[in-house]
Amino acid sequence: MITKKILVTPGDGIGPEVTKQAIHVLKTVAPRFELQLELSEKPVGGVAYDLTGTPIPDETLEAAKNSDAVLLGAVGGPKWEPLDFSVRPERGLLKLRSELELYANLRPAVIYGDLVNASTLKPEIVDGADLMVVRELTGGIYFGEPRGVEIRNGERVGFNTLVYSESEIRRIAKVGFEIAMKRKKKLTSVDKANVLESTELWREIVTEVGKDFPEVELSHMYADNAAMQIIRNPKQFDTMVTTNMFGDILSDAAAMMTGSLGMLPSASIGGKNGMYEPVHGSAPDISGQDKANPLAMILSVGMMLRYSFDLTEADEMIQQAVVKTLETYRTDDIMAEGKTLIGCQEMGERVLQILEQK
Ligand code: IPM
Ligand code: MG
Repeated sequence: MITKKILVTPGDGIGPEVTKQAIHVLKTVAPRFELQLELSEKPVGGVAYDLTGTPIPDETLEAAKNSDAVLLGAVGGPKWEPLDFSVRPERGLLKLRSELELYANLRPAVIYGDLVNASTLKPEIVDGADLMVVRELTGGIYFGEPRGVEIRNGERVGFNTLVYSESEIRRIAKVGFEIAMKRKKKLTSVDKANVLESTELWREIVTEVGKDFPEVELSHMYADNAAMQIIRNPKQFDTMVTTNMFGDILSDAAAMMTGSLGMLPSASIGGKNGMYEPVHGSAPDISGQDKANPLAMILSVGMMLRYSFDLTEADEMIQQAVVKTLETYRTDDIMAEGKTLIGCQEMGERVLQILEQK
């Protein structure tokens, strides 16, 4: 048995509900792979603000740095929107990503089983689509300086900076190519090189890094076109690498192709430990009603087992259990004719039942 420390930060909205189900799955699967877990829980986001006046208390940050992996639910909600920018729940999440140096965010958009009918796109367009978005996560316009709102010529002006250094581009490009090598060896780099100098550099460096990966077929696409192509013909993509903000936007589009934002897990890697979180947010409109879809969170546990602990089989086991569960059961966001509608807790239990039969 090896022992690993996991920090759990359920966060806000539906975060705690979906996290609870994911933890059950983690606790069931881990021991089968000789993995012993030490779990601890700390606040992040709005709940942390309410308790301590900051969305990311030092204690949470320290615990995150000292753990082998972090499992995060979701942050944010209307309750905290009026707060000053510097203490908004989202700042907590961004600080975690940057302090842990998690510069690569992997967001796989896969159509699980017959969920093909839950997509708003035609089945023949999405059936078989399998896209991995590799999003740069600790740079770009999300973190660039200068930033702020100030008075210029008697009026308020808001500004942010899109900045990428060569080394930042090189390391995320490398992750993109490495992931592509494990997939269909097709990488699309998304930029806006026709308008933004920083992404003209992006294109140049990605091309350069590509020389070390001659087997990977590299192409470049402008972000606006990429948004259109994900909806027009998602099957043309295998692996996509892109900037922080384009990745944020395009991964939501890719998620919806799979039927629901409630299905997309993510892994943030690059630092010494990884962080795993669903792509969906805190969904305040349905929180506390047992309506949330816990599958993105459960699949995030799978990604943790794969990327932090090298347990590919454990991830596959979880994915198969999810596919099997979907044959019969659905949460509201992916409900379809002939299926049984269940809530968040029961969805977790159904996945567990299948795992326990294995
Ligand atoms: C995401 C979210 C976050 C982001 C928010 C909550 C800060 O939209 O993980 O995609 O913009 O990165
Ligand atoms: Mg987003």
